[in-house]
Amino acid sequence: MSAPRLDVDHVLDTAQIIVCCGAGGVGKTTTAAALAVRGAERGRRTVVLTIDPARRLAQSMGLSELDNVPRAVKGVDGNLDAMMLDMKRTFDEIVLTHAEPAKAQQILANPFYQALSSSFAGTQEYMAMEKLGQLKASGAYDLIVVDTPPTRSALDFLDAPDRLTTFLDGRLVKVLLAPAKASGKAYLKVVTVGFNVFTGALTKIIGASVLQDVSQFVAALETMFGGFRERAQATYDLLKDPGTAFVVVAAPERDALREASYFVERLATEQMPLAGLVVNRVHRSAAAGLTAERSLAAAEDLDPDSLTAGVLRLHAERLLLSQREARLQERFTSAHPGVPVVEVAAQPGDVHDLEGLRAVGTDLSSGTAAATPA
Ligand SMILES: Nc1ncnc2c1ncn2[C@@H]1O[C@H](COP(=O)(O)OP(=O)(O)OP(=O)(O)O)[C@@H](O)[C@H]1O
Ligand SMILES: [Mg+2]
Repeated sequence: MSAPRLDVDHVLDTAQIIVCCGAGGVGKTTTAAALAVRGAERGRRTVVLTIDPARRLAQSMGLSELDNVPRAVKGVDGNLDAMMLDMKRTFDEIVLTHAEPAKAQQILANPFYQALSSSFAGTQEYMAMEKLGQLKASGAYDLIVVDTPPTRSALDFLDAPDRLTTFLDGRLVKVLLAPAKASGKAYLKVVTVGFNVFTGALTKIIGASVLQDVSQFVAALETMFGGFRERAQATYDLLKDPGTAFVVVAAPERDALREASYFVERLATEQMPLAGLVVNRVHRSAAAGLTAERSLAAAEDLDPDSLTAGVLRLHAERLLLSQREARLQERFTSAHPGVPVVEVAAQPGDVHDLEGLRAVGTDLSSGTAAATPA
């Protein structure tokens, strides 16, 4: 059974948001960057939101510093901006945007805020959502390509709004928010009592100075989180929009494909628009006509140490590898027959410059749907 081919160029020309997701280390960041370069070179004003790109890739895209602002990528024949996600800075921006300047400074300086903004579970996902919403609202781009963080569970990204709600409904935040509705002495007393409940844990994280300026901090936190929750929901809704295309990335390996399966099912459950599957780092054999059996047989007739015998054995190994990969991919396709697939060949080295990204982009747009096992 062969899968329908994922028409990447069609997606690049029509989608407003592309989200690359998948298991850790399969090539999400590379695929996102390659899609963005190709999208820009096809004439769309594009921005790519990357998360923890490898250093050399970041450099080649002009991302030498974490500044949380999209920067033009030099050397691209079109309009491409790129940015790396810095979660603490995005958090700070929310405070600066939603609190009065003086209050904002107070919040930023508050040790409790500092601990909170960089430590609570899933911050990276919320920040990705937040940033995506901002980029969309700016109206500056035709196409936004989003990379997702290497989470242990590939599903964390989708859980973000739920987990945010769980966090915001949690005891700690309740204690922080509740007193803001009281006033005067009673207010301070409630706050103090509330904090005392958590003294042990809080002191460990942030020290005793946490109680300074706590009243203003708590009040501002309420304003901030109130809006934050709504915006996370709005961005979540944006992801369901038909203008969004989820691209699941996998390596041609059992575990990665199993996770891809799970992800495809989850996207369906959430009614998120799936564009298809990218099978990245596929091994292809140049001389597919020469079977593994024949080349091993031929190698046996030669001096085992000869170069030709070595090449023949290598050829056989590559061929067997590519057959194994094709079988794994077949298995995915028989479980999800409707899901379009495209393959990207394993490059000889890491993908760390525009040239490498263009090569991946070319494969993405012209690669075969699914290798037929020989
Ligand atoms: N088609 C390819 N050919 C060769 N190397 C590749 C290919 N795709 C990705 N790589 C390399 O594999 C490594 C991992 O890729 P990448 O960082 O894109 O994965 P990721 O899914 O974003 O990982 P993480 O889950 O850690 O964020 C990088 O060194 C990258 O250059
Ligand atoms: Mg990555």
